[in-house]
Amino acid sequence: MSDPRQHEKYEQYEGGSPQAERLVFAELAERIVRVQRVNQDKGRLSGPERAFHAKASLGVDNARLRFHPDLPLGLREGYAQPGAEYRALVRLSNASGIPRPDAVPDLRGIAVSVLVSDDERHDLLMTNAPVSHAANAREFVDFAEVMAGAGSTAAIAWRLLVRLPRVVGRPTAARMRRTLNQTVARKVASLAEERYWSRAPILWGDAGPVRYQLRPGPSGPPAARPDRVARADPGYLRAELARRLRARDVVFELCLQRFADETRTPVEDASAEWPETVSPPVAVGLLTIPRQDIDSTEALATARRVEQLSFTPWRTTETFRPLGNLNRSREAVYGASSARRLGQE
Ligand code: HEM
Repeated sequence: MSDPRQHEKYEQYEGGSPQAERLVFAELAERIVRVQRVNQDKGRLSGPERAFHAKASLGVDNARLRFHPDLPLGLREGYAQPGAEYRALVRLSNASGIPRPDAVPDLRGIAVSVLVSDDERHDLLMTNAPVSHAANAREFVDFAEVMAGAGSTAAIAWRLLVRLPRVVGRPTAARMRRTLNQTVARKVASLAEERYWSRAPILWGDAGPVRYQLRPGPSGPPAARPDRVARADPGYLRAELARRLRARDVVFELCLQRFADETRTPVEDASAEWPETVSPPVAVGLLTIPRQDIDSTEALATARRVEQLSFTPWRTTETFRPLGNLNRSREAVYGASSARRLGQE
C-alpha cells in the first residue's frame, strides 16, 4: 500500500496550505457557475449545460479498457494490472460551454469512466492538446470569464486581443494565444484520429506523478479531409463517428509519461509541455469502443443517459490522486457545475 501523503512531496499549495487553497477554489467555483449562467443566457439554452464541454458527439457505456499483459513492473498499481480488463463509459465532446457547429474552432475532449467494481471507478479526462492555455486555476477561470458567451469569430478575436491582456496581463495573454493557435485552430477530420492529453498530472501510486494520453490506434482508413459541404453539417464529427463505428471498432492506446523532475516535467504548471525526449510515453493499455450503430434507439437512449452523468478527475482512489493546482481546483469546480445542471444544489 502506498503512502497516502506521498502526493505532498510533489505539490505546492497556493496560500501555503490545503485549507487556504480550498478557499481560493471555492471562489473560483462560484465564478465558473456564473460563466455557466452567461453561457446559458447567451446560448439561449433551455437549462444549464456543462460549464465546458456542453456538446457531445458520442456517449457509450460499452467501451473496454484492457491493460497490456506486459505492463511494466514499475507501473503496476491498483487497478492497473497486466491483462486486467474493465468496462468503460466514454463521452466525446467539444470544449465550449455553448453547443456550436463542429466547424467552429474548438478543443475536443474525451471523458472515460473505468468501472472497476461497484465502489471503484476511475475517470480519465483529456483534450486534444498537450498543454493547457492556463498555467493554473486562476488563469483558467480568468480566461473562461473573458470568453464567456462569445459566439461569433469576431467577438472571440476581440476578446482575445483586447480584453484578455487587461485581465491577465500582456505576457500571459500572448502565451495563451500562442497555445490556442497551435491547438484550437486545427481542422479535425475525425475524433477517432485525434490524440488526447490529460494536460495535468495524476499520481500513479509508487511510480509517482504521470501525465496520461490516448493515441489513436488502428481504426480503419483515414477520414477524408472534411470539405466545405461536410463541414456545413453542424454535427459532422458525430456523423463521421457513426459511419466509422458501423464498420469497425475505434481503438486508442493509453500511454503514460512519467515525472522526471520539477524543472523539466512540472507538476504545478499545466501550461508547460512534458517533452517526449525527457519522458517518452509508455503504452500501458488499449481503449476499445466496439463496433455499433450509435443511431439505434437503444444507443440513443444510452447517449441520453451519459449526458445526465458527470465525469470528474476526482472520481478515483488515493493511489491515482489528481496533482497540481489546476487539477486540485477541479474538485470544487466540477461539483458546482454538475450540481447545478443536474438539479442537485
Ligand atoms: C487541464 C486539464 C483539463 C482537461 C483535460 C479537461 C477536460 C474536460 C473534459 C473532457 C470535460 C468533459 C467531461 C464530460 O464529458 O462530462 C470537462 C468538463 C468540465 N471542465 Fe474540464 N478539463 C481540464 C481543466 C479544467 C479546469 C482547470 C476547470 C475549471 C477550473 C475545468 C472545468 C470544467 C467543468 C466545469 C466541466 C463540466 C463539468 C460538469 O458539468 O459535469 N476543467 N473538462
